[in-house]
Parts: sequence; structure tokens; C-alpha cells
Amino acid sequence: MNMKNRAAVIGTGVCLPERVLTNFDLEKMVNTSDEWITTRTGIHTRRIAGKGEENYRLAVRAGQVALKQAGISAHELSLVIVATFTPHMIMPSCACFVQAEIGADQAFAYDLNAACSGFLYGLDLADAYISRQPDMKILLIGSETLSARVNWEDRNTCILFGDGAGACVLTGGREGQGVVDANLRSDGSLWNLLYMHGPESQNPALVSDDNGGSFIRMAGRDVFRYAVKAMEEAVTTLLERNGVTIDDVCLLIPHQANIRILNKLMDRLTVPREKVYINVDKYGNTSAASIPIALDEASSLGMLRRGDLVLFCSFGGGFTWGSMLMNW
Ligand code: COA
Repeated sequence: MNMKNRAAVIGTGVCLPERVLTNFDLEKMVNTSDEWITTRTGIHTRRIAGKGEENYRLAVRAGQVALKQAGISAHELSLVIVATFTPHMIMPSCACFVQAEIGADQAFAYDLNAACSGFLYGLDLADAYISRQPDMKILLIGSETLSARVNWEDRNTCILFGDGAGACVLTGGREGQGVVDANLRSDGSLWNLLYMHGPESQNPALVSDDNGGSFIRMAGRDVFRYAVKAMEEAVTTLLERNGVTIDDVCLLIPHQANIRILNKLMDRLTVPREKVYINVDKYGNTSAASIPIALDEASSLGMLRRGDLVLFCSFGGGFTWGSMLMNW
């Protein structure tokens, strides 16, 4: 396998909103209980963005921390990508706001929407750019304000999601360092199991039907079933293709959707709990932000050492899903 000029992480960062919403707070909002939420999802708390914590502001703060850790200035960036499906404006992109705020005056910028798989798709994209131009420095951010797109009267969904941003700076790694391979997949035919209309998806002068509001809608059981199967297959195929086994993996960083999905995935892959980074209990499902937040925490805790083989996997609306191997 060609390991030259692949994208390697040189800095990570996180920004989480201040407000913590507990299961006990949710008990006062919808007909639910801490016990139900904890046993069904493993989530105890999630962060909720308030004033001054718009999506792009969370993204800016996470990005600035990652730049500081990488030891580079915004001026050195060639590209800013924000993975999100909850930008505070449809146009311009969240990434353009970030580019301006941080002063990345040499960078081009755009958003990427692959729902909860957005960060993994972004990593693969960054790797493609860097394979072509190894000295390129890319700021990749996953940032979401899902609380703005959740129906707070729907107990099936409102308990699951949280807000936050995670970022990383990428550039061409040294020999044997960086992205090894990715296995990304989509199946648009299953869109209606997990979706969200735009504020006005069609010309209101021409279309009279009411789309019922731009909230996340989900067939929970079906999503659960597909998520486990899809991530298991994406990981197994990737490992086989690269001649490695799950035992060679030092840390699995999965998309943090739900503890029961993760438990099933760990069982099927026969990966021990101590080799999996899990923080869904603290933040809930933060969609495109979940993997970079987990990556930053794992890195801060010293769980990643140079040369470690790291495995990522994700699943989200679309459906979109995939896996990636990276040498730290
Ligand atoms: N509190 C209390 N009861 C609730 C509830 C809540 N927050 N949400 C749903 N229920 C009720 C349902 O109304 C239903 O009641 P009924 O039997 O009287 O109709 C019952 O609990 C079972 O509902 P069901 O949807 O079958 O529960 P479940 O065991 O499948 O758990 C999820 C629901 C959403 C937790 C689960 O399906 C799941 O995790 N799905 C994946 C979601 C996900 O991760 N999406 C994002 C992927 S990126």
C-alpha cells in the first residue's frame, strides 16, 4: 500500500456550547424518563447552543484551537471544509464564515453535507487533495446545531441529539503516517428513514403542501438495524482489503449515535470496549461533529500514539456510511 503523501492530523480542537441539558430536564419537556433514555440510548446529557453560539461560531472556536495545536496560522491554510447539515445560513456556506472569521485569506472554503458521515467524507476528501499536493494545509471541521432542527415535542427524536463542533488540521504526513484507506458508501433509496426538509424546500408560490416543519424525522428501529449492519460491513471490508484484523487496530472511534448501536457493533466486530472511544453519554448524537469531538478527547487523554492504527466508522442520513483506517 502506498503510504506516501497521505493526510495526517497535526492538530485537533473542540468547541461545545455551555448549556447542558440533562435527561431530567427532558422529563419536564416531553413524556419521557431518565431511565428510558439511559437504557435505550446511553445518553445522560447533551449540549444546547444558545445566543452567540451559532454553528459557524462553534466551528470557528474549534478551528482556532486546532490551528493553535498544529502550530500554524490561518494564513497558511489552503482549504476550509465544514461538514454540517445545520448551517446557520444555506448561503453563504458555514465554511466561508469560518474562513473570514479566522483570517484564512489564502484558503477556499465550502460546506459538505453527508449528515453524520460528513466528517469521514471530509477526511477522505482532504486526503485526496493532499495526495495531489502534500504540503497543503486543510482545516476540516464537523459542526452542528441540531437543537435548532429538532422537534422539541417529539420524544422519539429530541432526546437523541446535541450541539457542538470538532476540528482537525491536516497536511501530508511523514512516511507511514496518515490515512491508509477509506470505504465510503451511500444508499439514497433509504432517504425517508432519516431526513429533514429545508425551511422552504420548494417555491411556496407553486407548492401549497405543508412539509410539517424542517425537523429531523426518523424511523428509529429501521435506522438502528441498518446502522449496525452497514458499519459492520464497512469495517470488515476495509480491514480485509488492507490485510489487517481488528486486533491490529489500536483505537476505534465510531460515530456516537447510541450506546446500543455501539454495543452491537463491538460484539459483531469482536472489539473489546477498552479499544473503543465512547462519549455519547455526555454529548448525545452531534452528527458530523461526533467523530472529531471524540478524536480530540482521545488525543487529549493520550490514547493515541505515533504509529497507532486508528479505525473510524460512521452512519447517517442519506443513508451515508463508511469506515477509514489511519496511522496516527
Ligand atoms: N421516552 C419514553 N418512551 C418513548 C420515547 C421516549 N423518549 N421515545 C419513544 N418511546 C416509546 C414509543 O412511543 C414506543 O411506545 P409504544 O410501544 O407505546 O408505541 C416505545 O417507546 C418503543 O418505541 P421504539 O421506537 O420501538 O423504541 P426503541 O426501543 O426502538 O428505541 C430509539 C427508540 C430511537 C432509541 C432506537 O430505535 C434507536 O436508537 N434508533 C436509532 C436512532 C439513531 O441513532 N439515529 C441516528 C443515526 S445517525
